[in-house]
Parts: sequence; C-alpha cells; structure tokens
Amino acid sequence: MAQSRVVRSVLLTMAAAAVFIALAGIVGAQTPAPASYVPPVYTPPPPPPPPSPAALALLARIQGLGDLSMFSNALMASRINLTLIGIIGGGKVTVFAPNNGAFAMLSPELKQCLDTQSGKIDVLTQIMLFHLAVGGNYTVAELKTISRLTAASGMPIDLMTLGDGTIMVEGTARVVVPDAITGVNATVHIINDIIFPESILSTVMIQCYNVPPSASLPVPSAGFF
Ligand SMILES: *[C@@H]1O[C@H](CO)[C@@H](O)[C@H](O)[C@H]1NC(C)=O
Ligand SMILES: *[C@@H]1O[C@H](CO)[C@@H](O)[C@H](O)[C@H]1NC(C)=O
Ligand SMILES: *[C@@H]1O[C@H](CO)[C@@H](O)[C@H](O)[C@H]1NC(C)=O
Repeated sequence: MAQSRVVRSVLLTMAAAAVFIALAGIVGAQTPAPASYVPPVYTPPPPPPPPSPAALALLARIQGLGDLSMFSNALMASRINLTLIGIIGGGKVTVFAPNNGAFAMLSPELKQCLDTQSGKIDVLTQIMLFHLAVGGNYTVAELKTISRLTAASGMPIDLMTLGDGTIMVEGTARVVVPDAITGVNATVHIINDIIFPESILSTVMIQCYNVPPSASLPVPSAGFF
C-alpha cells in the first residue's frame, strides 16, 4: 500500500513535470529564440567640423581686447564660443559684445546667478546667444539701414539709429566701438550694456531672484541688469 502511494506520487510528479515542459515548449515557440535578432547599432552624431582658422582668429582677437575680457570669459563659461565657431564656419554673424563696464553694472544677485552652474546653463547661455546676430557680418554703415536682426537663439534684436548716427541695440545698449573687429564672416561691435531676451525674464526672476513662478513679474526697465 505504502509503496503504491510512493509510486503514485512519483508518477504525479513526473506528469506535472511533463506538463511544465510541454507548456514551456509552447511558450518558447511563441517567443522564438532571438537567433536572427540584430541589436540596433548606435551611430554617434558626426563630430562637428574642426574650427576654421578664421573663427579661431576672431576668438583670439576678442580675447585680446582688454575691455572685452568679461565677455570673453562669459563666452567660454557658457560654451557659446563653440556656437560662434560653428556659425562662422557656415555663415555670417554680427556680434554685439558688451564691454567690462556693462558687466560691472549687473546686480550682485545676477552676477552670483550667472556664476553658478545652473545660471550658466539657463540664463547665461540665453543671454550670450542673444548677443550673436546671424545672417550677416554687418558693419555699422550697414546696420544704419537695418531695424531688426535675428539672434542665434531665434529671438529678434531691434536696432535704432539716433539722429547723431549712434546705433542703439534693444533700446538700451549703445554701440560705443563700431566695427571693433572685422574678419571673415564676422563683425564685432562693442556695446555698453548687456541685452537680454524677454523670453528669459521669468527664468531670471525665478532662478536668480527667487521670485516664485506664480508672482506677477515686474516689467524690466532700461538698465534692469
Ligand atoms: C570654448 O570654451 C570651452 C569651455 O570653456 C573650452 O574648453 C574650449 O577650449 C573653448 N574653445 C575655444 C576654441 O575657444
Ligand atoms: C564663411 O561662410 C560661408 C557660408 O556663407 C562658408 O562657406 C565659409 O566656409 C565660411 N568661411 C569660413 C572661413 O569659415
Ligand atoms: C564679411 O565676410 C566676408 C566673407 O564671408 C568677407 O569677404 C567680408 O570682408 C566681411 N565683411 C567685413 C565688413 O569684414
């Protein structure tokens, strides 16, 4: 009796195992072994073309002008130097470079903000892109006939020529050294104020002044920076 119970339990175990193997076979048949599976090949984006000597020369000349040392530092810190190199390699650019006096006028909160990693990524990057106008390496003589340019970030940059011939950029920044640097595909004018796109105002308020997003934002006056 005891022996047949053992036999029966062995048979049951074997039956269960057989069912399991059969099921496993079915499941296996439904998901075929990945014999012909080819994993997707990761293709990295092509590396950017090497900087042209003309672009490197322009950056060196910006660095060489003592009154643009802050601008030059900001170009590097935001890595917009690489954007500038890229633009010069494939088209023309007019750079509005704020002098050191313009950077000195920044509020302590903004200076601190632009100096932090998150400020560099969000705020400084957008500000620096706004100082590069794409589409032409215009001299001041040409700018006098133009009322709007497009920044590398896509935002419009408004120009105005005053009665005495002075060019104002975005209403607040005066071109103080016209045609300061002219080179292949690029012209640099020195301005006396930092210009900023309105699109980043709320980011500036939240990130640099800790104003909560829901607060109504003050309209920037001239010389907000
Ligand atoms: C651009 O700026 C980056 C970051 O600061 C720096 O590592 C790089 O050497 C600069 N390249 C040129 C060509 O100026
Ligand atoms: C200047 O821009 C043109 C396109 O307008 C480009 O073909 C040329 O290579 C650029 N020159 C340099 C020195 O990068
Ligand atoms: C603008 O760039 C072109 C090359 O694309 C150059 O021939 C011309 O002299 C430049 N203009 C100025 C004002 O430097």
